Amino acid sequence: MITALGYGTTGLSVGQRVFGLADWYRDGTLAEYVAMEARNLAPLPGDVDFTVGASLPISGLTAWQGLFQHGRLQAGQSVLVHGAAGAVGSMVTQLARLGGAYVIGTGRSADRQKALEFGAREFVDLENDVLEDIGGVDLVFDVIGGDIGKRSARLIRAGGMLVSIVGPSEARPADGLAVDFVVESDRAQLSEIVQRVRDGRLRTNIRNIATLDEAVAAFNPTKRISGKTIIRVRP
Ligand SMILES: NC(=O)c1ccc[n+]([C@@H]2O[C@H](COP(=O)([O-])OP(=O)(O)OC[C@H]3O[C@@H](n4cnc5c(N)ncnc54)[C@H](OP(=O)(O)O)[C@@H]3O)[C@@H](O)[C@H]2O)c1
Repeated sequence: MITALGYGTTGLSVGQRVFGLADWYRDGTLAEYVAMEARNLAPLPGDVDFTVGASLPISGLTAWQGLFQHGRLQAGQSVLVHGAAGAVGSMVTQLARLGGAYVIGTGRSADRQKALEFGAREFVDLENDVLEDIGGVDLVFDVIGGDIGKRSARLIRAGGMLVSIVGPSEARPADGLAVDFVVESDRAQLSEIVQRVRDGRLRTNIRNIATLDEAVAAFNPTKRISGKTIIRVRP
């Protein structure tokens, strides 16, 4: 919630509920108050809880920018989404499906049901299935990198795109493009994303909500469960 505003036109008002993504040079802490640029914030509708609001910016914007801004996704295309049950992967899977794409998800065997529930039409268990058996795809969204990223470059059809969020891919598609990017805040995209959550088209993927006292343990879980961890700084 906005407690104070600086100078200039922000399009926001004191007392307004907001959500957003701080610039990376302000990254890496939990706080009750934070000074941040108004352009990084969007209004959070009254019927959306703050925990849901907190779960959307990084994974939602990354998915949106990777698919539509960098990936130039077209309806009818096929998309291979690595880590489809994860925080970013689950958003990519849903937004690609909403964009009219045919989605193939990947991950570990335990992730299969979750990935299919988020809208993947097929699932590749990266430990037990052969990734190359899927044939060619138009877009690969890579959240894993390394050998998986390298092998994925060979699956890209002519004119297709390899989108990585884990640094430059070690291999490039023979007849396509490879792009890697770091997510940035965007008020218009945040508003598009939260509207899809409000009308039920998009589901958030929260695995754990913890208090500030529980934060250290929450960020170091004994067993891996994919999805977002939310820390409630105020009870
Ligand atoms: N460039 C950017 O702007 C940007 C933005 C957001 C995130 N990222 C990066 O993207 C990556 C994913 O982020 P996230 O928040 O989506 O993480 P996450 O919730 O942990 O999702 C990753 C998913 O991929 C699965 N996975 C990882 N390695 C795998 C492997 N070798 N085989 C099978 N499944 C595998 C994970 O399963 P397990 O949990 O079982 O390992 C998990 O389900 C992180 O490295 C993060 O730093 C970059």
